[in-house]
Amino acid sequence: MDIHECDFCAGQMHPKDCQLVVTASEARTNAYCPHSGFAVGAALRTTDDRVFTGVNVENASFGLTVCAERNAIAAAVAAGMKPGELQTIMIVASSNPVASPCGACRQVIAEFAADNCLVIACNTEREDFSTWHLADLLPEAFEL
Ligand code: THU
Repeated sequence: MDIHECDFCAGQMHPKDCQLVVTASEARTNAYCPHSGFAVGAALRTTDDRVFTGVNVENASFGLTVCAERNAIAAAVAAGMKPGELQTIMIVASSNPVASPCGACRQVIAEFAADNCLVIACNTEREDFSTWHLADLLPEAFEL
C-alpha cells in the first residue's frame, strides 16, 4: 500500500481510497432520506480507477428504499462496470460506530467484487473508519 501524508487515515488507506471519503461525503449531501433522516453517501472505485457515487433514496413505501451502496453500484454498472471490477466501496454516514453495509448490500457488492475488494465505512466527522475485506463481511456468499 502506498504511504501518503494524511492527518485522517495516517497512511492506512490507499490514497485513492482516502479520496473516496471526500467524494462520498459530497454525494451524501444529496441523500433522499425524509423518512429516516439518516443520510448515507457511497463512493466506489473500480479496478481501472473509475469512481461512481450513490446515495440512499427512500420512499413513502418504506420497503422500496434503496441504500447508497446499491445505487453507487447501479451507476457503475450503467457505465460498464463488470463482475470482478469493484475494488473499493466507501460508505459515509453520521453514526458511531460507523455504518457497515446491510446484508442485501453485501450480497450485491459480492456480485461485482474484485478478489480483494475492500469495504470502508467512515463517519462524517472524518475521525473514525473501519476497513473490511468483503469476504469477511459475507463469507461463503451465494453465487450461481
Ligand atoms: N442505509 C444505507 O444507505 N446504507 C447502509 O449501509 C445502511 C442503511 C440507508 C437505508 C435507509 O435509507 C437509511 O439508511 C436508514 O436505514
